[in-house]
Amino acid sequence: MTSLTDINFAPFRFRRSVLSVPASNQRALEKIRTLDCDAVIFDLEDSVAPEKKAEARENLRRLFKDNPLQGVERVVRINALDTQFGKADMDLAVEISPDVVLVPKVEQVAQIQSVADILSEAGAPDDLAIWAMIETPKGVLNASAIGAADERLQCFVVGLNDLRKETGVLSQPGRGYLVPWLMQIVLAGRAHGIDIIDSVFNDFRDTEALEAECRQGRVMGFSGKMLIHPAQIEPANRHFGPDPEAVKDAETIIAAFAKPEARHLNVINLNGQMVERLHLVEAEKLVAKAKFLTERKNAP
Ligand code: COA
Ligand code: MG
Repeated sequence: MTSLTDINFAPFRFRRSVLSVPASNQRALEKIRTLDCDAVIFDLEDSVAPEKKAEARENLRRLFKDNPLQGVERVVRINALDTQFGKADMDLAVEISPDVVLVPKVEQVAQIQSVADILSEAGAPDDLAIWAMIETPKGVLNASAIGAADERLQCFVVGLNDLRKETGVLSQPGRGYLVPWLMQIVLAGRAHGIDIIDSVFNDFRDTEALEAECRQGRVMGFSGKMLIHPAQIEPANRHFGPDPEAVKDAETIIAAFAKPEARHLNVINLNGQMVERLHLVEAEKLVAKAKFLTERKNAP
């Protein structure tokens, strides 16, 4: 019987907390080293004024040279290739070689393919990934095709500020009218085996509302959340990381299937709940993930 107990799940790639930092903000850039986020988006796009773009690129050039920032996924958000800033941003990405290039306002497969072609022609490593912002009506409608655009594509990031602006849907607690579109993006991403990062929550002083939105994003199947402020990191790590209660349940499932009488069973009765072998696989994955995070936290 196949079991995953012998498979090494590590190293896991966690994308629970994805913090955006305007690349023009030197003070915030310096702060990154002290923060416990899984990924950092160095933004060259909308949070950087046109007259600050060149200075922002220079900041990143210096940062990547002086401080390679190990242990965090380094994402550079470029301006779209059809803007006056796109080419210089791509030149910078090739030069500093981050882990990811994040393409804004993706609506067509060709936008991803163009970035992939530039990277490959410049000899960028195969593991330099591409992420896509899905933040326009056409982006949502074409998410499924975009998800299959290129092997480098690893992640969708939802941008609700732009999507609300473009559609006229207002900001409301619970995001009711946006949920169908959010779920469409989740489905498209999962269909192509890529991660999906939930949108930013703007009101960074309202921790209660952030908690609620993280909880909702987790239940909807998102891998993590894009963040704008350091105070949002801990809630995102907690909500999108392994839930201690779920880890305990997973350990119970593993123990139940390990009993000799369950060896040849694909379905068991666990305290009145039907548990299938597919749940065992999930349980083993969750326990391995939790163990990996604990070991990483306790590492010297
Ligand atoms: N990354 C790293 N550090 C950040 C940060 C971020 N995104 N946002 C704030 N900080 C730092 C500040 O520099 C400050 O550091 P200090 O104590 O050393 O001075 C500390 O966290 C507290 O910040 P605070 O005073 O509460 O907020 P602020 O007024 O400095 O910044 C924003 C508020 C919204 C302007 C800022 O958080 C920001 O620019 N966020 C990112 C915006 C973005 O990337 N948008 C594009 C995607 S939608
Ligand atoms: Mg945007």
